[in-house]
Amino acid sequence: MKSTAPHTILQLQQMKNDGKKIACVTAYDASFAAQAVAAGMDCLLVGDSLGMVVQGQDSTLAVTLDEMIYHCRAVRRGAPQSFIIADMPFMSYATAEQAMANASALMQTGIHMVKLEGGAAWVFDSVTQLTQRGIPVCGHLGLTPQFVHQLGGYRQQGKTEQAANQLYAQATELVQAGIRLLVLECVPETVGKYIAQHLSIPVIGIGAGYACDGQVLVSYDMLGLTPGKIPGFAKNFMLGQACISDAFKAYVQAVKAQDFPVKNG
Ligand code: KIV
Repeated sequence: MKSTAPHTILQLQQMKNDGKKIACVTAYDASFAAQAVAAGMDCLLVGDSLGMVVQGQDSTLAVTLDEMIYHCRAVRRGAPQSFIIADMPFMSYATAEQAMANASALMQTGIHMVKLEGGAAWVFDSVTQLTQRGIPVCGHLGLTPQFVHQLGGYRQQGKTEQAANQLYAQATELVQAGIRLLVLECVPETVGKYIAQHLSIPVIGIGAGYACDGQVLVSYDMLGLTPGKIPGFAKNFMLGQACISDAFKAYVQAVKAQDFPVKNG
């Protein structure tokens, strides 16, 4: 059957404009990518979370560009019609020159967009340079795992009014620099709602509340494969399902119906 999944950034933007929720999940290999797309996933993220869930590291920092390239190629082979976003690994975009060379290498695997973490001035510069040269960029604010040691752990961000205002200011500057998508991780529901409502581009939340334009989860968390505790904002969609494909479908349906994440306020 021919996939009807969106495969351009314009289609994801149209979903936001039409108020349709975007379902996204991480994928690291061809088989999981194919199952996710067959279940109706709108886009896939080759996340550097693979360092933790595939490699067993305690953070994402050890993931290399070559490893990302390997996984991007695999995901692309499994989901040739899908819109695929890939993380630029730790320190691979510390300067605009590095960002250009390393993002080019990722794009040449066949993915469609690169994701950079953070909202500091040096990130804006890289975003501008990349987008001016035709590389679509996704921002990532809130809990940014590559900054885990600076943040003092995997903790919720944007909890005070000042921190929430700073996140919004960074998001608007990233949009001005050229990002076309924003991942917002682990912030209060009110902050997710405000940022999603005030940005023109789609905001994909992970632990950022029901009001974001879409949701992303780490596939190993939502399939019950992650050893130990999963983040409080994640949910094991395998429970009550017979197979991985059904779990992916349950997640897609829950995101589209706005049953996940549950509204708190
Ligand atoms: O690496 C990753 O999987 C991510 C998600 C947590 C959004 O960046």
